[in-house]
Amino acid sequence: MARLRSRIDELAKIGPTPAGGSCRLALTDEDRQGRDLVCRWMNDLGMTVTVDAIGNVFGVWNCADGLPVMTGSHIDTVRTGGIYDGNYGVLAGLEVIEACQLAGITPKRPLAVGVFTDEEGARFAPDMLGSLVYVGGMSVEEALDVVGIDGARLGDELSRIGYAGMTPCPGIAPHAFVELHIEQGPLLEAQQQRLGAVTGVQGISWQEVTITGQSNHAGTTPMSLRKDPVAAAADLAVFVHDLAHRYGGNQVCTVGKLDVHPNLVNVVAARAQLTLDVRNTDESLLQKAEAEIASHFAVLGQSYGVKIDTKRLARFEPVQFNDDVIDLVETICTDIDNATIRMPSGAGHDAQMLARVCPTAMIFVPSKDGISHNPAEHTDDADLENGANALLRTMLALADHDFKENQ
Ligand code: GLV
Ligand code: MN
Ligand code: MN
Repeated sequence: MARLRSRIDELAKIGPTPAGGSCRLALTDEDRQGRDLVCRWMNDLGMTVTVDAIGNVFGVWNCADGLPVMTGSHIDTVRTGGIYDGNYGVLAGLEVIEACQLAGITPKRPLAVGVFTDEEGARFAPDMLGSLVYVGGMSVEEALDVVGIDGARLGDELSRIGYAGMTPCPGIAPHAFVELHIEQGPLLEAQQQRLGAVTGVQGISWQEVTITGQSNHAGTTPMSLRKDPVAAAADLAVFVHDLAHRYGGNQVCTVGKLDVHPNLVNVVAARAQLTLDVRNTDESLLQKAEAEIASHFAVLGQSYGVKIDTKRLARFEPVQFNDDVIDLVETICTDIDNATIRMPSGAGHDAQMLARVCPTAMIFVPSKDGISHNPAEHTDDADLENGANALLRTMLALADHDFKENQ
């Protein structure tokens, strides 16, 4: 645990934020420094390190022949990130390799650790972009042309930080994939559980909505003549909030980003731009929510006299993980700590992309107070250690495991 703890803390020193979190937006200088550090650790462990055309980094411990059992996650963060999201999964992967090497354990297949580009999607949408390209869900060309929230082109930033690699995408399908991650939600803690065998990931729909009105003087423009995009944006935010409450279950809706132009006290705005993040574990309910929101755009246009344009940023259907791998994870986690449950993931993860090409599941450990995407994100060392042990045992078991035809 001391090694894992010190690696987490060392990586957290890159892009530190005042409240003790991390800011390593994808393909920034901080992301490059984080990658450099992880690559150095991979090299120190004698792993073969490669970088693919979208900047995903893979360290492989070639301890045997055959397709690797892969783990991994991401080290990019949201701007107000904690120090565990993604980083924990990558660094626990390195810990698995080091622990095996020190114990003289030789797994039956190679073990690989992946560091996927731009999992967060907070700078370049969609999220899970690197793993999506890895599995062939998006072409490299299309991904390189994505423009970020700061106007930068992804391909330019990738080259600038020196991580436009040589290995082609799509990449090889591993023998199996298992990702260890903090839960980022409240369920494990609320139910006094210590480990989660993750059964799948909910569907996600991201849109950018641009509402255009008529900019004018705040004092002289009668209310009846206004075309106020901020009022329409506020209406939309409340509409999706109420929709999620009305649907209940796993439905969640978020307006996480709102920009107003020109953003001045005495000017009716010209434009408001906001993002919609809509998720559900049930694809038909997710589609129903999307349809209701689309109808509401028409209502807003009428009520506020504004024009609404939408841009799709991400759309992924719910993913169900592989039953064999879920069972394996659950058995191992239960053996480590009986306080283990099966659960879906509320957050998006690279594992949901890898699930398209190989048997996949995930392991969760508790998040204190269910807080994540926030510097206060915290998981106790004992839980981090539990998770790393579960990852080690799962990877070794997967290295021993032959999947049947139907995968
Ligand atoms: C990724 O972290 C997401 O679920 O937004
Ligand atoms: Mn993550
Ligand atoms: Mn995240």
